[in-house]
Amino acid sequence: MSSFARRLGLECPLVQAPMAGATTPELVAAVSNAGGLGSLGAGYTEAQAILDDVARVRSLTGRPFALNLFVLPDAFAVDPLAVARAREELDALMAREGLEARTSLPAQWAPRFSDQFAALCEARPAVASFAFGVIDPAQMRELHRRDIVVIGTATTVREARAWAAAGADAVCVQGAEAGGHRGSFLHEAEDAMIGLFALLPLAVRAVDIPVIAAGGIMDGRAMLAAEVLGAAASQLGTAFLACPESAAAAAWKRDLPLAQEHQVTTIRGFSGRAARGLRNRFVELMPHAAQGLPYPVLNALTAPLRRAAAVAGRGDLLSEWCGQAASLVRPQPAAELVARLLDERRLARRSLTASRDTC
Ligand SMILES: Cc1cc2nc3c(=O)[nH]c(=O)nc-3n(C[C@H](O)[C@H](O)[C@H](O)COP(=O)(O)O)c2cc1C
Repeated sequence: MSSFARRLGLECPLVQAPMAGATTPELVAAVSNAGGLGSLGAGYTEAQAILDDVARVRSLTGRPFALNLFVLPDAFAVDPLAVARAREELDALMAREGLEARTSLPAQWAPRFSDQFAALCEARPAVASFAFGVIDPAQMRELHRRDIVVIGTATTVREARAWAAAGADAVCVQGAEAGGHRGSFLHEAEDAMIGLFALLPLAVRAVDIPVIAAGGIMDGRAMLAAEVLGAAASQLGTAFLACPESAAAAAWKRDLPLAQEHQVTTIRGFSGRAARGLRNRFVELMPHAAQGLPYPVLNALTAPLRRAAAVAGRGDLLSEWCGQAASLVRPQPAAELVARLLDERRLARRSLTASRDTC
């Protein structure tokens, strides 16, 4: 057990990854109750709904959990002509595919980070984790004043150093294998696609805070491998997507075990930001005009399409985010999955110890 896990009162070095849009209070509480760290992905959630979700988690568990936000500006400049062209193409695509939904102009492109941050401070979870940027010194002080442990996300050694310099208590390194959006903020995502087996030991050497490993970890053997490379804990996302407690659409859950690794790719066309998921029909048909729009503008414009595709069971038009090892997923209740992961980790450790003398 790492000192990081002990500090948080965890029974095992396992973090269930925050997954905005897919993690539910039920999933978070189930993982925390099973001895890991459940994380609520609240990047898309408005401030009041964050407080409601946290209250629901607390009604289900008294154990530590994490709340995760995307570090973004409060407002976004956007070219109205580019938006109009993208809307036209997306609407035409939905009409051709037989989906009744159409795009609309939202009141704001994404929830305001400053409102979300205020809700986070009020909610006071044991842990706050962040992606897409680094919080400023005043925000770091605010969190530490409330005894909230801060975890930053890094996709390169430079980003890990930036979080350590900002005063983070731990950094989660996101290998290129990882499902969902790339957390990169000092580099273009394409320049920051470092495999976890390279990134993890490099980051462990570079910073003196605990390093959490993320990307392609689907079972207890991989957790142990990450620990051997210096990880204080493993953060698993895709592994939890098929749990009944996850909010992933039924079509998405159905497609995960069938994913072939060469079909799992980085995609900008759903959200305007590079994210790893299944290369499906939408990726082949991606509207040309939409491709130049930035995050979170494109994310907001494709939301009606993604919602309609989920309702219609059209996995081929859905953003089916997942990591490279997605087909190793085991659909089962989260508490059972945590117990299974820990059994596998124990077994792997035992078999390594037993085989040490033979070579
Ligand atoms: C569906 C999905 C949504 C995600 N959303 C978030 C998020 O909201 N915040 C975040 O920090 N990371 C997010 N991630 C990335 C995870 O934190 C983690 O890096 C990734 O799941 C690890 O790779 P794996 O999926 O192969 O386990 C998401 C990942 C997935 C699969």
